[in-house]
Amino acid sequence: MKVVLLISGRGSNMQALLEADLPVEFACVISNRPDAAGLAFAAARGVPTAVVDHKAHVGREAFDAALAAEIDRHAPELVILAGFMRVLTDAFVRRYEGRLINIHPALLPAFPGLHTHERALAAGVKLHGCTVHYVVPEVDAGPIVAQAAVPVLADDTPARLAARVLAQEHRLYPQVVRWLAEGRVQRRTDGVITLAGAPDIASLALASPAG
Ligand code: GRF
Repeated sequence: MKVVLLISGRGSNMQALLEADLPVEFACVISNRPDAAGLAFAAARGVPTAVVDHKAHVGREAFDAALAAEIDRHAPELVILAGFMRVLTDAFVRRYEGRLINIHPALLPAFPGLHTHERALAAGVKLHGCTVHYVVPEVDAGPIVAQAAVPVLADDTPARLAARVLAQEHRLYPQVVRWLAEGRVQRRTDGVITLAGAPDIASLALASPAG
């Protein structure tokens, strides 16, 4: 499976994907920021990189068209948003719908948008986590492929909670891409995503606080 990764900065999720020994070909890592730290890591691993600078384009349509042109040069079967911090136009999302996935640092549909860890702490939720989902025009919506939950502890700060969630992001995203490459991710007629061959996990309920 040919994959293109889109990043904007640090690129730790990209790094986890590149290091996971996945049965995919990473055709290109594309950043909208020339100074994204993740670019150097990808290049050092021999993965082609490209920059489509949003500042060099007037308006979202022009930027998204340039981005799509760069992506399409590689004819990927999967486009992975890994900390890509630009809102995409409806036209762009529709072009890649069904082969465009994102990771969000919250248990969607709770806490879409920014500052998820601060908001989770303020809401007093006892479980928080991350979500891998297909991208649809509405931001941080779209069919959920997988989620990982972590407990929220009484003395958490946003930074501590973020670190606990990020560790799960680095585990979950490669797992999902592996399932996709194996053809195990299926869409039911009602739009819900299921995993073929999944074990019965009904007895593995998560509770926090555990008491
Ligand atoms: C992650 O928390 C991811 O969930 C969110 O943006 C952050 C990107 O971090 N979409 P990194 O660039 O992968 O380190």
